[in-house]
Amino acid sequence: MTAATTEMTGREVTPLQGTAAKLQRYDRPGPRYTSYPTAVEFSDGFDEAAYRGRLEAAASAIDEPLSLYVHLPFCEERCLYCGCMTIITQRHDVATHYLQYLEREIEMVAAALQGRRKVIQHHWGGGTPTYFTVEEIERLHAVISRHFDVQVDAEVAIEIDPRATTREQLRTLRSLGFNRLSMGVQDFTPDVQNAIGRYQPEQATRELYEYARSIGFNRINIDLIYGLPRQNVESFSRTLAAITAMRPERIAVYSYAHVPWLRPHQKHIDASELPSRDVKWQLIGTAIESFVDAGYMPIGMDHFALAEDELAVAARERRLHRNFMGYTTRRAIDMVGVGLSAIGEVSGAFAQNVKKLSSYFRAIDARQFPTERGYMLTEDDSIRRQVISELMCNFFVDGAAIETRFGVDFNRYFAAEFEALRAPGGPVSDGLLEISPRGIEVLPEGRLFVRTICMHFDRYLQRHQDRPTFSRTI
Ligand SMILES: C[S@@+](CC[C@H](N)C(=O)[O-])C[C@H]1O[C@@H](n2cnc3c(N)ncnc32)[C@H](O)[C@@H]1O
Ligand code: SF4
Repeated sequence: MTAATTEMTGREVTPLQGTAAKLQRYDRPGPRYTSYPTAVEFSDGFDEAAYRGRLEAAASAIDEPLSLYVHLPFCEERCLYCGCMTIITQRHDVATHYLQYLEREIEMVAAALQGRRKVIQHHWGGGTPTYFTVEEIERLHAVISRHFDVQVDAEVAIEIDPRATTREQLRTLRSLGFNRLSMGVQDFTPDVQNAIGRYQPEQATRELYEYARSIGFNRINIDLIYGLPRQNVESFSRTLAAITAMRPERIAVYSYAHVPWLRPHQKHIDASELPSRDVKWQLIGTAIESFVDAGYMPIGMDHFALAEDELAVAARERRLHRNFMGYTTRRAIDMVGVGLSAIGEVSGAFAQNVKKLSSYFRAIDARQFPTERGYMLTEDDSIRRQVISELMCNFFVDGAAIETRFGVDFNRYFAAEFEALRAPGGPVSDGLLEISPRGIEVLPEGRLFVRTICMHFDRYLQRHQDRPTFSRTI
């Protein structure tokens, strides 16, 4: 495989040859860094009273816009690879009951925020949000609109499973103001779909996509996964070609997170059918080449966007952000998460809701927030979080900006980390990273290893060496 160069960026992206030794060294279990500290650091020492306190503290920033994440965890069937927090049931009455409680949680959060109601990023995720009927979707939306003002320029996004979404639902979503769709595809190859228990004909997916276009959805993301059982370069290339022909504005190609100790249903995946590390590397390499050739710009580690998409523009200007909902250009200082297992970040703390329905119902009946655990960030966490976030989003950390924001001497603060990174056989000598007086820059060859690079700045990783915790970084 050859190095690919993009005219859009003028930058070379990810040379892929001669990397066996590096793969050996850098493809390790590690966090995805949708947050720092990662969710494994959350503890039940941070409880509902702590969360209530954070919400009340956040209320004073009355005009600051929020991000609002709504978790809708139901699916009718389970895909064997799924790593999301889902409840599999055909009993729609359970889901309807859930909605009633979710509405009450939204009311409680709004009350604690005391009139802080502007929303700049609004996201419904799952599970499968289109599990709900048109009437239920409308009703939930009405409750949210009663308590929050979603701004005209807000990103209003929803995750949809094309197998479980009707045209009527799409029309409803459009009329309610949803302006971004995230569609799960993963892989169109029938043999792979058999191995993962997800049957999704290419043609039906394309028809739904075209219909969404025809009713005005002009921001569509498509999710793929590499590293699934029975995937090979040849068949994955066909999926890649089909997707680039559709021309979604954004494409995510996630590395399959195989974590059967956390998601026991993944044990039904035949591990002997998983592609080897080398094949995985070729799969992501092929994806990068296909997308760059088709005019997409690589964003962060695993996303691609058309050159004119705002994510691509922000990436070029190094002002990309990342939160639990993924890469974004909309930065809200606080993110409120509602629903089962939802994670929020409010006034310097992470808070996660309970994952069991019965506990969720019980908390709301007691007029308590259903907080299960959380984490109050220290100053050191905030500094490291900024460094990790800049690396993951922009592949560059401006040392002076860290000094100005946090009042620390950048080089002194990270002296030990820089020494480790510069050690022989480490990322600097391997040409993955440059540390200069300006800051830290991830070089093209280091982009796919950025999670492993970030691990150097994570002060909590040592605690998790003795048991499986994270998926592999490639
Ligand atoms: C929360 S799911 C919701 C999407 C929707 N239910 C569907 O299946 O189309 C969002 C995306 O997460 C990704 N995903 C789920 N499990 C994963 C895993 N174990 N490893 C990597 N990505 C995963 C898939 O690409 C999926 O489309
Ligand atoms: S991938 Fe989507 S549809 Fe499949 S189980 Fe996970 S959330 Fe449900």
